[in-house]
Amino acid sequence: MIRHIVLFRLKPGFSWESPAVREAEALQERMGDEIEELREWHCGRNVSGRSVAYDYAVIGLLDDEEAVARYLAHPFHHKAASSWTPISDRVIADIKEDPPRRATPHPRNPPKENDVSAPSEVFVLTDEECALLPSDADVAFYAEHGWYLSKKLFTEEETALLRSASEEFYAGRRDRVLPKHPARLAYWTPEMGDVQRHNDYIHYESDTIAKVLRKPLLGAVAARLAQADRIRVFQSTLIRKPPRPEESSNVVPWHFDRDYWATSTSERMLTAFIPFHTCDEQMGTITMVDGSHRWQELSRDAVTARHFVQLGRDAESVLERTAEANDAKVVKVPVEIPEGHVSFHHCRTYHGSGANWSIEPRRAISLHLQDGANAYWEFPLADGSLATYNHDELVRRTPQGTPDYADPDFCPVVWDGPVPPAA
Ligand SMILES: [Fe+2]
Repeated sequence: MIRHIVLFRLKPGFSWESPAVREAEALQERMGDEIEELREWHCGRNVSGRSVAYDYAVIGLLDDEEAVARYLAHPFHHKAASSWTPISDRVIADIKEDPPRRATPHPRNPPKENDVSAPSEVFVLTDEECALLPSDADVAFYAEHGWYLSKKLFTEEETALLRSASEEFYAGRRDRVLPKHPARLAYWTPEMGDVQRHNDYIHYESDTIAKVLRKPLLGAVAARLAQADRIRVFQSTLIRKPPRPEESSNVVPWHFDRDYWATSTSERMLTAFIPFHTCDEQMGTITMVDGSHRWQELSRDAVTARHFVQLGRDAESVLERTAEANDAKVVKVPVEIPEGHVSFHHCRTYHGSGANWSIEPRRAISLHLQDGANAYWEFPLADGSLATYNHDELVRRTPQGTPDYADPDFCPVVWDGPVPPAA
């Protein structure tokens, strides 16, 4: 067997945003499907910060040197390779590999216990966990009201771990860092001061938090509510609301999450609001507008282009006018969440939250979840431009060249398979 390795370094003036680079990358991703000589095909962007690192690598496996020659002569290889020529410098090596190497752990370097790079293959629940799943009546309640307060899904040890890991994060600890910060990323840094803190992609940057969030029980509850067999993370935001009633950034105006996810195809997406402690009205807990997920919206476009913190006072009037147009009343339900319990809401349920009048910071994660069928689609806005989401600059591409919302690095699977019946 021959292991074929190519490393590319982008020429000055080119970046991952350059159209020519995007096109070249999309072609590489199709190579494994297009050329039958390739027994294996991997490609991807470099994540090393070392100065000697190249920007992009492709690694293939072929039967022998004749297979390599056929691969090199293949028209699709010509097309892909020539797309890299004007934008990069490259080095290559072909090495003999017989038999092909398997990814066996070295005895002195076993996988770390909290390795979150690959989702666990098996999603199983204990009998005790099955007793914590939503009942049929709970699922019907969620379908009618658009929200659901779970039973106790997390232990005190787990909520304590979320508290300590979040403090470590605020102190600067990162297990990995985002390769870039898209323009609309919410990302608190200390120089922003004592405002409400929002940090997107916390499941990507903190392994400890990611491990807690990937508890199969949480995914199973979401799967049952969304009536889906597979649930993936869509986004996760670490939130800290300081105990300062006068702080205006603490107030989250009425909005529904689907408005920010116009590039997603699914209407089953949902959010798990996970406080790290008991969370009541005094703390500014999440407040649902009951049944609002069933309303017709007035106009999505005006809102989609803005983040909710920019909506300000408009939000109250949008809510009132939308209710009126739907012949509905605005019924606000502050969800009092005991420690370890989780508040779920449908992606179209209006919600918001008020000031923190308590003496403690309100700490939580908004874990946004997508069903397995969700995918990117082009969503044109009124001005002719396309809606975008932060993922679109970060996740890998599908074979069609669109952002892949199933990229396991950013959107790991948290539940897969039928959910067992509630005990
Ligand atoms: Fe929200």
